[in-house]
Amino acid sequence: MTDALKVGIAGLGTVGASLVKIIQSRASELATTCGRPIEITAVTARNRSRDRGFDMSGMAWFDTPEKLAAEADIDVFVELVGGANGAAADSVRTALQRGLHVVTANKALLAASGVELAKIAEEKGALLNFEAAVAGGIPVIKALRESLTGNTISRVYGIMNGTCNYILTKMEKEGLSFAECLKEAQRLGYAEADPAFDIEGNDTAHKLAILTTLAFGTKIAADEIYLEGITNISIDDIHAASDLGYRIKLLGVAQRTESGIEQRVHPTMVPHDSVIAQVDGVTNAVAIESDILGELLMVGPGAGGNATASAVLGDIADIAKSQPGAQRVPVLGTPAAALADYRRAQMRSHEGGYFIRLTVADRAGVFASVATRMAENAISLESIVQRAKPSEADSDKTIILVTHATTEAAIRKAVDAIKQETYLVGEPQVIRIERPKAF
Ligand code: HSE
Repeated sequence: MTDALKVGIAGLGTVGASLVKIIQSRASELATTCGRPIEITAVTARNRSRDRGFDMSGMAWFDTPEKLAAEADIDVFVELVGGANGAAADSVRTALQRGLHVVTANKALLAASGVELAKIAEEKGALLNFEAAVAGGIPVIKALRESLTGNTISRVYGIMNGTCNYILTKMEKEGLSFAECLKEAQRLGYAEADPAFDIEGNDTAHKLAILTTLAFGTKIAADEIYLEGITNISIDDIHAASDLGYRIKLLGVAQRTESGIEQRVHPTMVPHDSVIAQVDGVTNAVAIESDILGELLMVGPGAGGNATASAVLGDIADIAKSQPGAQRVPVLGTPAAALADYRRAQMRSHEGGYFIRLTVADRAGVFASVATRMAENAISLESIVQRAKPSEADSDKTIILVTHATTEAAIRKAVDAIKQETYLVGEPQVIRIERPKAF
């Protein structure tokens, strides 16, 4: 059997600890599958003495990720530190410059510096694998990077943040508050170190930016994503959506349009009978629409120790099986030097259906006025309902509209006009509707 693949791991949190335990407990099966043993020979973490439930003897300890990347006798550097800058970025750059292969779960780093890192890896003939960075254990990177080569992709979308999906599901099914659900997601190890990244949509945006590049062959453009998180979603929205045959999910969507590529992350209404509407809890789902294959939908665990470690392990195993000096799959699907410039489609041109929830004073003519503002902007309505809500003052009512396909520009104009009306109470809620093609 060939020499062992020597692996150094930076970061022994939820994912790192799961990874070490899996590699140690399946050593012999992995050696058989990969044709060579996988050995963890170096580690680093914030706290050396913490009991992590595995034996660290035989692993060299380094005080920092940067030192491990620069000095350890390893073939593969596994970065599980997180963060777009600092130790994670510095250590990954150092490892690649040394010609080491790198495996990372760090979506923030890739979203910020993925093209630059891919260039270094490609120049050095090293592999930079990042399956765990998007949708946890779902092998979507491999699908886009390798399996769908030759397909022209028109839309990639999905539920890519386990924490948000967990919160939305628990709010709907158990009637718990947003804060309670978030706390539980943190306890279970799903949330980012700063959970604002989850609930404000940044985490989904980082993942979407990576998928956009793989799907469309354009440079990573994480700063060009339209972004809305879920903090504004109330239990009233969830119930109203349900009454109308929809569920609310935080989706990331990248779509080819005539005016460029649309990238957006926002709470989205999906038809109740679609598969993606049934994806609950920490589970993620990614749909890819392409011309040769049609629609592909992958559903699986999106966060947590084992799910993420499974993807990291798959990346390490790919390196163990690869031949030295062999032609490498381009890191981002297309060689980094050949990625096209990203051309952003304006959000105002976005076309689709919309859900609008208004709280209004209960006066004669309000319903007609709302319908008129829609008509003035050529917005055709699929449904419009008015109902009293026990929690509202007697004089307030809720009007819920669902529109047929229209443009974002028309919706913004209509809503702005309604905001000028004295009958409106509070801020209107506007949620875009997304319709899956096949599932
Ligand atoms: N915080 C992320 C999530 C972890 O909730 O999906 C996986 O990237």
